[in-house]
Amino acid sequence: MPVPKAELHLHIEGTLEPELAFALAARNGVTLPYADTEALREAYRFSDLQSFLDLYYGLMAVLRTAEDFTELADAYLARAGEQGVRHAEIFFDPQAHTARGVPFGVVVEGLCAALDRAEERYGISTRLIMCFLRDESAESAMATLEAAKPYLGRITGVGLDSAEVGHPPAKFREVYEEAARLGLRRVAHAGEEGPAAYVREALDVLGVERIDHGLRCLEDPELVERLARERVPLTLCPLSNVRLRAIDAIGDHPLRTMLAAGLVATVNSDDPAYFGGYVEDNFDAVRDALGLGEEELRTLARNSFLAAFLEDDEELRGR
Ligand code: ADE
Ligand code: ZN
Repeated sequence: MPVPKAELHLHIEGTLEPELAFALAARNGVTLPYADTEALREAYRFSDLQSFLDLYYGLMAVLRTAEDFTELADAYLARAGEQGVRHAEIFFDPQAHTARGVPFGVVVEGLCAALDRAEERYGISTRLIMCFLRDESAESAMATLEAAKPYLGRITGVGLDSAEVGHPPAKFREVYEEAARLGLRRVAHAGEEGPAAYVREALDVLGVERIDHGLRCLEDPELVERLARERVPLTLCPLSNVRLRAIDAIGDHPLRTMLAAGLVATVNSDDPAYFGGYVEDNFDAVRDALGLGEEELRTLARNSFLAAFLEDDEELRGR
């Protein structure tokens, strides 16, 4: 039985499995530049974040209707339930859809149709976090936040993802200020490929409550001390780090060092359809490669609930 856990770093578009991609392509009359699911899987050899993002955004062409998003999210939730997930905070990339002519509301309503049934079907509580694409302009991010206003009852927070290097957090200062005014929780990817300075900036300028990845914080001991002292959770994604070549091999993952430094580390799957495993597979991979014991695995699971945007009463409900 997988340990009960919360998943806090999961891009719903990154759960698009090749089989569903081809089924949706057929339904929507989209021609994919791959002969079949095998040829598509063959293309999942990434040299860095950008090489992944190119394929990831390309494949989104098959997602067109609210039903497509419902099916996508439902398939993830079913698998997450099998992997011990009891609470999922799900990222989505609205600009990647609105830029293709799919309205914001279609995406949110489609996702919510699946999320609304998740508790009953799979025993999973959910939250939605909308991410801004950091390689798009701050104006585009602000317009996206504006488009989200009718749906804020369904959206818990904002995040920042896509190509990191050259797009520092401070570019989105005003957008995050507005998000805070709207009562939204704030997170951001930082220190995945970008420097430790971006992690600092995400905390100081954007006021984020969690750092997504944060791997490169280790290059700045003072920052590590601060993250530990302020108990800022890091949502790590070990299999993603290997596939996107942030580290050479799973055995090189610094998770053990991070736990020893007192960091509130959590383990997540990022884009599981592309990186060879869902969240329990990530737990298994670090357990086997780093020799983590029961106590460390329990700490990781406990951290995931502590770091979640759950109300106190939800956190206490035996999670
Ligand atoms: N979007 C989807 N996955 C991502 C990742 N690992 N880093 C940045 N942006 C992403
Ligand atoms: Zn991510």
